[in-house]
Amino acid sequence: MIVGVIGSGAIGPDLAYGFLSSLAGPAFREEENKVYLLDIKKDALDAGVERINNYIKKALARGKVSDKVAAFIPKALVPTMDIQDLANCDYVLEAASEDLKIKRAILRNLEEVVRPDCLIGFATSAIPRARIAAEALHPERCFVNHPFYPAWRALPIEVVSSGTDERFSTKMLDVLQKLGKVPIITADVPAFAADDVFSNYICEAVRIVEEGIATPAQVDQIVNSAIGGGGPLNVMDLTHGNVLVVHIQELMQEVGGDWFAPPALLVKQGTARWRNPNALEDSTHTEAQAKQVMDRILAVLIGRAYAVAENGVCEASDLNWLLRMSLGFNEGTLDLGKKLGAEKVAELCLKYAKANPGFPVPKCIAEKKLPTYLRDVKIDRDGDIATVMVRRPELRNALSMQTVAEIKTVMRKLNADSGISGVVFTGYGGALSGADVNEFTSLTTRKQTEGICYKAHPAQKVISGMKKPVVAALDGPVMGGGSEFSMVCHARVVGKNLLLAQPEVNLGIIPGYGATQRMPRIIGVEKALELLRTGRSIGAEEACAIGWAYGEPVDDPVQAAKDLIREHIAGKVKLAPVDPAPVTVPDPIPDIDLGHRSLVIDTLLVNAVKEGLRLPLEEGLLVEARAFADSKETVDADIGIKNFTQNGPRVPAAFMHE
Ligand SMILES: NC(=O)c1ccc[n+]([C@@H]2O[C@H](COP(=O)([O-])OP(=O)(O)OC[C@H]3O[C@@H](n4cnc5c(N)ncnc54)[C@H](O)[C@@H]3O)[C@@H](O)[C@H]2O)c1
Repeated sequence: MIVGVIGSGAIGPDLAYGFLSSLAGPAFREEENKVYLLDIKKDALDAGVERINNYIKKALARGKVSDKVAAFIPKALVPTMDIQDLANCDYVLEAASEDLKIKRAILRNLEEVVRPDCLIGFATSAIPRARIAAEALHPERCFVNHPFYPAWRALPIEVVSSGTDERFSTKMLDVLQKLGKVPIITADVPAFAADDVFSNYICEAVRIVEEGIATPAQVDQIVNSAIGGGGPLNVMDLTHGNVLVVHIQELMQEVGGDWFAPPALLVKQGTARWRNPNALEDSTHTEAQAKQVMDRILAVLIGRAYAVAENGVCEASDLNWLLRMSLGFNEGTLDLGKKLGAEKVAELCLKYAKANPGFPVPKCIAEKKLPTYLRDVKIDRDGDIATVMVRRPELRNALSMQTVAEIKTVMRKLNADSGISGVVFTGYGGALSGADVNEFTSLTTRKQTEGICYKAHPAQKVISGMKKPVVAALDGPVMGGGSEFSMVCHARVVGKNLLLAQPEVNLGIIPGYGATQRMPRIIGVEKALELLRTGRSIGAEEACAIGWAYGEPVDDPVQAAKDLIREHIAGKVKLAPVDPAPVTVPDPIPDIDLGHRSLVIDTLLVNAVKEGLRLPLEEGLLVEARAFADSKETVDADIGIKNFTQNGPRVPAAFMHE
């Protein structure tokens, strides 16, 4: 893919570096890949290239990139001051100065150079797409693509669709996803979704300083310790964002009224810093100060977040994820509102509105009816086929207890929905990387450990027992709990980048979501024992060859899963959950080289397989749950889990076999 980035200022080089890192990956293996970085100022361009080279050096020193990727990036980066060089681009992201006239002029020049099918994105923080693309020759390929700081690794990107040609919109989302971003659709309003909430939050912090309630150091300390995010004024210093926030507020003021006007102190501050990085600033404060600051900050943050959702700017579950990922708070802003409760949120916002005329209190807050939304799962409908997607890309779609509960709820609803004939189960980008390790390490009692299995079983029973076909569509890493939930589905189709494993033994534990019972029923006892006891990962070809996955590896697993569902409905194939009947286990079981793996864990694992398979599936799952809790109580589990969290999956644990 040939990509162009226009503007080598604060964000352009970061975007270019992020795109280059993605282009070095397997998805682009067979293509010609380049990123042009263009600026009208030679010094800006040179500084951008230098920044990218420094990123590579740092990433290499920290072992974050391979030598191959580090060699690819400088070769594939083409700095230029000549727009003609962008002629062959498939996608150009304009990230030049935040100025409507400049953006329109760039678009005019660019359209004379690029092919009519070249996608064009505007990285604008707040200017509506309709204004920038008002004179476009081909408006159908012009989108807002609003990235977030730090742009080389921040996952979310807001997308305002051109809305005129579905094919371009689909292509735009696909390109961004391939370039490592998670596109979130927003309406074409000033500041879109995240910057509305962010910018108003910053302004409230500035007003608090302006009114002498607290100093910048105190505000940062109070806010950061209450909700995270690094402190609003510190963030302004890091991103040099004062001028941009003034501009964003002016755009919002045009449509929203005077409450949105930028505070005079922010305008006066210009490019000056709020905090002195060389001084130890006093951030001590009273409890009364903290309450006063947080009441106001929460009213604005939560009030604006629910307003954005209520006004249809962004779908609620997308917004909650977007705000958590882009603003760096400890939790999503809608989650924060939910946690405080409708009563408290209404009290805060109504009190704030009384003191600050013009602050719009959303109806859902005034009426104390906060909307419900899914946090980790997204549902998409394509005619009578629904796709249930685990969307936690920041954790490769790891399954938390909340995720499992949401899967159960949506599957149950889809089962009862007469308009739905089949369901595809997948993760964002195809990955399902396992149970959430953070959550798992926080389990302290045996009851809690067994309990997570008992919470998963009912969700799995809903899926396997659905009266319509459920097909898992997988690509990339599918590990542990992710693989186990796929095995509950009635079939699995896989993409070429699948990497499948039950790696629990490497952590000194055994599987707990059914792999010891379902995997042998799907691929046979001997093969399953080999994979379960070694934790070996297999690719797409092998997964198909051993019958774990259906057919052959495909390019588009979600589409292939839909096709398979259609074939089932037409009676051409018969998809079904695993047969729950008991299974005979060979005696003795074949010898195997366990390498460094724990002998005590292996014994627990083999016993769970042997004992469980003699029973019907449901009883076998209980045998596994008990053995799972036994494994968590071993010394080797402590060693294995600690090794995994400290050193990652590649360093073998030094097990004691106790
Ligand atoms: N900085 C951020 O963290 C951030 C975050 C999200 C979005 N954005 C958006 O990205 C865009 C760029 O922001 P920035 O902070 O990097 O701005 P910046 O002012 O730091 O850099 C803009 C660059 O564009 C160049 N430029 C100006 N006119 C040009 C032209 N005609 N052709 C080519 N280059 C030209 C300038 O020389 C400058 O190097 C803005 O629209 C901004 O709203 C920025």
